[in-house]
Amino acid sequence: MKILLVIVTLCSVQIVTSTYCFWNTGCPYKYFSNKTPYNFVRGDIRDSLVKLPGCEPVSIWGLIRHGHKNPGTGYGMHMKEAVVIKDYIASSYERGNCSLCAQDVENLRKWQDDEHMFANPYQFTREGALESEGLARRLKQAFPKLLAKLDENDYQFRPANAPHSWVADSMKAFVGSLYDKPLTIQPAKTDHDNIYPYDTCKNYTDMEQNVKTNEESIKFQSSAEYLASKDRIQRRIGIDYALTDTNISALYDLCRYDTSGLTNQFSPWCALFTTEDLKALEYIYDLRHYYRSGYGASINEVFGQIALTDLLKSFQDSKVGNGKKITAYVTHATMMDMVWCALKLFKDDAPLTGAFRKPDRKWRSSKLASLSSNLIVVLNK
Ligand SMILES: *[C@@H]1O[C@H](CO)[C@@H](O)[C@H](O)[C@H]1NC(C)=O
Ligand SMILES: *[C@@H]1O[C@H](CO)[C@@H](O)[C@H](O)[C@H]1NC(C)=O
Ligand SMILES: *[C@@H]1O[C@H](CO)[C@@H](O)[C@H](O)[C@H]1NC(C)=O
Repeated sequence: MKILLVIVTLCSVQIVTSTYCFWNTGCPYKYFSNKTPYNFVRGDIRDSLVKLPGCEPVSIWGLIRHGHKNPGTGYGMHMKEAVVIKDYIASSYERGNCSLCAQDVENLRKWQDDEHMFANPYQFTREGALESEGLARRLKQAFPKLLAKLDENDYQFRPANAPHSWVADSMKAFVGSLYDKPLTIQPAKTDHDNIYPYDTCKNYTDMEQNVKTNEESIKFQSSAEYLASKDRIQRRIGIDYALTDTNISALYDLCRYDTSGLTNQFSPWCALFTTEDLKALEYIYDLRHYYRSGYGASINEVFGQIALTDLLKSFQDSKVGNGKKITAYVTHATMMDMVWCALKLFKDDAPLTGAFRKPDRKWRSSKLASLSSNLIVVLNK
């Protein structure tokens, strides 16, 4: 009898622990398109091939996307509106209409905007600062001799323009961690900036605003895959009104803005989505990036070349003994995409379309346009 009891207990323990829940899943899906935390996808320059044995690094050139920031007013408003869904979920759970796990519901119910992201739209965050600082710290460790001493003529740092301070703040955090004395950061240019050339170019703004540019991502939102995912989310939550596409993106934004790559803490909002749902949502943004700043429009490659011209010039100057030890810029995701195009990186054989999500595509916004994504190039002697 005793033996039997023990067995019964063991079996039931096993049943309880094997229930799939978000809070205890061993490997949550961590690719959140352009809001992917840098730590989820980064490499480490200290271990990288860029350090060549027998060579002497003489100049570094870097183009870096800004780090984590709060959502802007528009997206922030939709997210704030969507927060009430957590109360609907709690009551739907009590009625037995919600299939989320108890702990996931509890975590959601307790969720608060601890980071004050709605109160401070566009604000650079602590997560963002730590991302930028980490990047600089590792660079310093990878090239200790080159970066040991930086005089006024040894460096150039400049952020791209932005309507708020998050890009400049990312640059400051990077520079602050690169060197123990204050260094000069050039002010952002408001026109003809080679690291933000599309900003004041009418061809680009026309293209970006053209309805055709978002056609494929909109098409995907009526695909069988996306509709099935939307239906799953709706049923899992079990609320009695139909979620709109805006509601789904707002919930997705809550999940991704509120997730920290540095502490590896996922937002309880992510529990509303399965891995398949997150893959479908990720693809909407892959398509947007592809057509707005990627291979979907030929002009994008030209903008990428403009930024890379600065790299060429910088290394040519170094060759004739007139160079900088380090040149670094902080810019926007759009610019990073364009540079990848100019370098023919992440290029698929066939264009991405809304009709079909190719699982092994090369163009993955989560990897090429993550927060703090960057291109670091080193000239060796
Ligand atoms: C859902 O979206 C609609 C507009 O698409 C909006 O009016 C409504 O407030 C949203 N609901 C929630 C709970 O976010
Ligand atoms: C800019 O737009 C004009 C008019 O649509 C077009 O003829 C031209 O090729 C575009 N330039 C580039 C670089 O795409
Ligand atoms: C909850 O589930 C019951 C039984 O399936 C159903 O009759 C009811 O309409 C559901 N309520 C909501 C709000 O979905």
